[in-house]
Amino acid sequence: MKVGVVGLGAMGSGIAQLCVEAGLDTVGREVTADLGERARERIGHFLTRKVEKGKLESFDLALLTTTTELADLADCDLIIEAIVEELGPKQELFVELERICRPDAVLATNTSALSVTEIASATSSPERVVGMHFFNPAPLMPLVEIVRAELSSEAAFDAAYALGEKLGKHPIRCHDTPGFVVNRVLIPLLNDCVRVLDEARVSPEDLDAGMKHGAGWPMGPCELLDLVGIDVHVHASEALYDKLREPRMAAPPRLVAMANAGLYGRKSGRGFYTY
Ligand code: CAA
Repeated sequence: MKVGVVGLGAMGSGIAQLCVEAGLDTVGREVTADLGERARERIGHFLTRKVEKGKLESFDLALLTTTTELADLADCDLIIEAIVEELGPKQELFVELERICRPDAVLATNTSALSVTEIASATSSPERVVGMHFFNPAPLMPLVEIVRAELSSEAAFDAAYALGEKLGKHPIRCHDTPGFVVNRVLIPLLNDCVRVLDEARVSPEDLDAGMKHGAGWPMGPCELLDLVGIDVHVHASEALYDKLREPRMAAPPRLVAMANAGLYGRKSGRGFYTY
């Protein structure tokens, strides 16, 4: 089986890493050769660490080809899109993929807050479009949501589910509703956590300690927001608020201000914490 991954940022490179680890031929596409090379190095680094720690016997990085040409995805069985979280660019990409890829190839999107059905609607073969929503960091988080869009075929849905299993994930089946399953719950919850920061006049450190030691979270909400990216979270909150009109979905002003100031979290070196 050959898998294509379009976009090798945090999510895409994590997904490509899972494919290599599962022994699958993988083609990763980035806009520049340099970005592709950097993703390859990151993947090599994490897999080497896993071998050093005795969590993986060996891996073959040669399974991964990086390219800047979408045409190199022509013979892939399943392609996972992990580009910028905006409808227009995703729709344009799916139209291109439909033109380039085999007619039986499954086209999956890793979108977290956009509608898979809307992405599929730009193509003339929406039956082969599904959602495969991984969680950050993709190599470590066991879940993948397999999302059935309005016109997804059974065959495309089953192929995405089977790939999720092959990648060692725990797939769950869901429909194309705003936020799917986990973000529908997690996004308003994280927004509540940030509102509590001000209401309860608690520090990020204490809120994080509270949720870790009082609710068993593996990391506190502020740490988690810094990991996900404040900008990514604000963007997803706005997308869900647009669709559901529930006040809890709207990003608190404090997060919007942080995003506007470039305090994105780990990736920019500063968010709730400094890295
Ligand atoms: N890719 C691959 N490997 C990575 C990695 C990455 N991005 N980041 C870290 N690692 C590796 C590192 O090599 C590290 O090992 P070394 O430091 O020894 O090199 C190792 O993983 C860390 O593994 P551990 O098992 O020690 O880590 P941990 O026990 O601290 O768990 C965690 C880390 C799994 C992230 C845990 O803290 C956790 O579950 N946090 C919650 C994360 C979460 O909720 N994510 C969901 C975000 S929401 C989302 O993604 C939805 C959306 O649409 C935005």
